[in-house]
Amino acid sequence: MSKLLVEKSGPLVGRIRIKGAKNSVLKLMAASILADDPCTIESVPELLDVEVMIQLLEALGLKVDYNREAEMIKVIPAETLTCEAPYEIIQKMRASFLVMGPLLAKKKIAKVSMPGGCDIGARPIDLHLKGFQALGAEVTLGHGYIEAKTETGLVGAEIYLDFPSVGATENIMMAATMAKGQTVIQNAAKEPEIVDLANFLNEMGANVRGAGTDTIRVNGVDKLNGARHQTIPDRIIAATYMVAAALTKGDITIENVVSSHVKPVTAKLKEVGAIIEDGDDFIRVRGVDALKAVDLTTLPYPGFPTDAQAQFMVLLAVSEGTSVITETVFENRFRHVAEINRMGANIKIEGHSAVIQGVKGLQGTQVKATDLRAGAALVLAGLVAEGVTEVDEIYHIDRGYPQIERDLMALGAKITRVDK
Ligand code: UD1
Repeated sequence: MSKLLVEKSGPLVGRIRIKGAKNSVLKLMAASILADDPCTIESVPELLDVEVMIQLLEALGLKVDYNREAEMIKVIPAETLTCEAPYEIIQKMRASFLVMGPLLAKKKIAKVSMPGGCDIGARPIDLHLKGFQALGAEVTLGHGYIEAKTETGLVGAEIYLDFPSVGATENIMMAATMAKGQTVIQNAAKEPEIVDLANFLNEMGANVRGAGTDTIRVNGVDKLNGARHQTIPDRIIAATYMVAAALTKGDITIENVVSSHVKPVTAKLKEVGAIIEDGDDFIRVRGVDALKAVDLTTLPYPGFPTDAQAQFMVLLAVSEGTSVITETVFENRFRHVAEINRMGANIKIEGHSAVIQGVKGLQGTQVKATDLRAGAALVLAGLVAEGVTEVDEIYHIDRGYPQIERDLMALGAKITRVDK
């Protein structure tokens, strides 16, 4: 298993170009199942999760041509589309459950293993299933599989989500594209990745309106065509490198970012004391000597993203004063606290909050990535910790950052990947 050795690195300085968003591209790939013709997806980042989604689409009978150099994927429809998504693939990645909506829409039946993925809480799928049921599917669970089917085809319905779940909004939106009549999803998630998926579906001939607001209307169509689509930039990777600039007292210009997508992060970085300049598609972050404590609460978009919580915690761990981070999106997303504390931080968990007493500095030691973003946070911590930080279980990081060390090294970080 590989690990990263991160040395204390001094200020990170330079420019970095952000690649396509993992959390968008996986859904775009799943949506390709709906098309009757080939779909081309551009700006596909080279990630483990993308490889898993390719395996899954191939297991369903689709053909996938992945040109890694051109960062492009072509998905060719299956001659015979299989409606069963196997455990071996689904358990590797939670987002693979997103094939259920498209399969149900296209085949009228889908059988998908219960999902796995990052261990950050219970992460149920009840909202996805309630949505499918509202559209007229009969849902049964057994032997670790979920089956949804409809004899006569899905029918549009009004669906209110108890929580604006990203995955449920996407799965229901895809299922509804070919349902009879209109589907209205209320209290829908508003994340930029939802808008990207809706745009792709519309390019395929779907009729989706209101994505990016809390009410999405989908008017069903008979069939969907192929389309060509460029994935939006990854706002969480951008946020990670923005934090890296502030943390190392560096000066990083992030290119190919939609600055409105990272507004909550920009706002908190300013509160901490970092100096920010931004345009529509770039952000420059400069660190300052003394960073200030701030409180923050993670929320669905446009609130502060839970996926940037761990990285920001590292920053607050070395800021002056006491900060409180409250996590409201996932119930068990503080597993990185024990690891950051092993590096000398002073963080206590109180219910859904982490109370962070800023310390003067961190020390390198052996730590392990407990999930994807936690792993990135530990790499950031290593950049400012005395000595060497050994980050283990970095397969988590590789799921969502295309070679994090290459990006950071280009900015002056000292990182070595060791294949054990
Ligand atoms: C997606 C992102 C993930 C991000 C999260 C929140 C992908 C591949 N992953 O995950 O990186 O952290 O959005 O921004 O896009 N919930 C239910 N019932 C459901 C579904 C969700 O109770 O049926 C709960 C979850 O347990 C969690 C909360 O809703 O507490 C948010 O989950 P959700 O928005 O669905 O996140 P994901 O789509 O899994």
